[in-house]
Amino acid sequence: MRRPSVRNHFPRILCSLLLIGASAWASAPSAAPAARSTPADASATVLARVVPAPASVQAGGASYVIGSGTRIHVPGNSNEVRKIGDYLAAVLRPSTGYPVPVVADGGDRDGIVLKLGAAVSGAGSRTAAGAPGAGGGQVPRDTAVALGAEGYRLIVSGQSVTLGAEQAAGLFHGVQTLRQLLPAAVEKHSVQSGPWTVPGGTITDVPRYAYRGGMLDVSRHFFSVAQVERYIDQLALYKINQLHLHLSDDQGWRIAVDSWPRLAAYGGSTQVGGGPGGSYSKADYREIVRYAAGRYLTVVPEIDMPGHTNAALASYAELNCSGTAPPLYTGTQVGFSSLCVSKDVTYRFADEVLGELAALTPGPYLHIGGDEAHSTGHADYVTFMDKVQPIVTKYGKTVLAWHQLAGAHPVAGAVAQYWGTDGSEKEVADAAKAGLRLVLSPANRAYLDMKYTASTPLGLDWAGLVEVKDSYNWDPATFVKGAPASAVLGVEAPLWTETIVTSANIDYMAFPRLPGIAEIGWSPAATHQWDAYKVRLAAQGPRWTALGIGYYRSPQVPWPSD
Ligand code: ACM
Repeated sequence: MRRPSVRNHFPRILCSLLLIGASAWASAPSAAPAARSTPADASATVLARVVPAPASVQAGGASYVIGSGTRIHVPGNSNEVRKIGDYLAAVLRPSTGYPVPVVADGGDRDGIVLKLGAAVSGAGSRTAAGAPGAGGGQVPRDTAVALGAEGYRLIVSGQSVTLGAEQAAGLFHGVQTLRQLLPAAVEKHSVQSGPWTVPGGTITDVPRYAYRGGMLDVSRHFFSVAQVERYIDQLALYKINQLHLHLSDDQGWRIAVDSWPRLAAYGGSTQVGGGPGGSYSKADYREIVRYAAGRYLTVVPEIDMPGHTNAALASYAELNCSGTAPPLYTGTQVGFSSLCVSKDVTYRFADEVLGELAALTPGPYLHIGGDEAHSTGHADYVTFMDKVQPIVTKYGKTVLAWHQLAGAHPVAGAVAQYWGTDGSEKEVADAAKAGLRLVLSPANRAYLDMKYTASTPLGLDWAGLVEVKDSYNWDPATFVKGAPASAVLGVEAPLWTETIVTSANIDYMAFPRLPGIAEIGWSPAATHQWDAYKVRLAAQGPRWTALGIGYYRSPQVPWPSD
């Protein structure tokens, strides 16, 4: 099913897979008799609640209880690791009321130890599983696993929580897991009563896919830097590592471009419904990039072309084949605008815009859109993509585009973002066989702007109603029929904002579906099971409440009372 050219619902509603021990979610034999011990099955319950499901969990052994003397140790005092320690301390201090100092002294001391380096191993550490009487003396089966760019190992014993990773991103992801092992009240901003028990055991975790994205459409409605940063914090909770910003569309141009200043000044001056819109200065954009990087997310900027360009066409008459600028647009139709493919100025425009954006963007991708170019003839579409992709590569970036790129000539190394609904597009499978890589965002699964049910007050329904189970029950490796699983780089959950105006609206549509897409991107396929997932997901509800995230209480999920 394809998106209709009129989104006419608005007025009505306003690695390989590294399965280390996913089958070994076994509770360990009886717990150690230490005062801080937790019954092994209780540990197993808490450790098994994490979203995304870790690759390997071995529960058991003494728990660690965060107390007034708990310190976060940053051996070697690397600046980057210290920042992660500060981030963790900022989570723990308000709710526990403890000072939780971050200290440079290292070693396996009492407290929480953040260890960076290749020599991260469960063997030899005070692992719960290795401790006498805890875990039956087993040595974790995963001690030799390479943790890679984003993996981590978390070892909880009575004396310490040791979080190790080869790279800092892994430590950051491990901190997100540690948060989920603590009671939900840890997320509150005022002092709560503990105890702050981290159940004993070892988690070893690596992602299934390298690309795990969330997209925010800041064009249909503009969102401030603070609102984007709030969403970044939410994405980071679930180990998402790419923030795709849809920076331009018919309704608004949202990024300052020095060589084409009217794009932001005029093209950004409104939004759906006729509100004031807005745009990011270059300093704003750098701030978003900086904030995202601090949460191990890479910003993927999108300039959608050759369609979805009314804001640009309204700003500069010369970009139109007619030479006449259309008015600004505040409705929700799609497919009516096109850059003028036959004019040289179009490619100067693309070059200067993408050049400035590339200079602002440390990440590898520039997304050039390419979807719903219904007002661009096919030959013109191919011509346009043939001319614009080399501009992206000239600036040292990788081409990312919606999957219609497959119908043109994707350049070597390009990535296509699949947003169809049934995986039947043969040209996508053929291009993937020829080397095109894919990010999967099937609209009837991963689009966070689809209504959950017919009575959902926000969102659209052109791709169907997408309840939490629908959103979770699919596999990126097989969704596009005939595409090799090895072509799949990852997944992304887009949030289009025709009907989304506030951060509360974002929260309601993203939660609880966003964590499911994050799990599909992170967790081993063998952990994928709705009946187990819905129980783990339910345990997230009180965390969202503690964080001030208002979510859709799907009847499919057995939410506890907060
Ligand atoms: C899209 O939803 N037009 C990518």
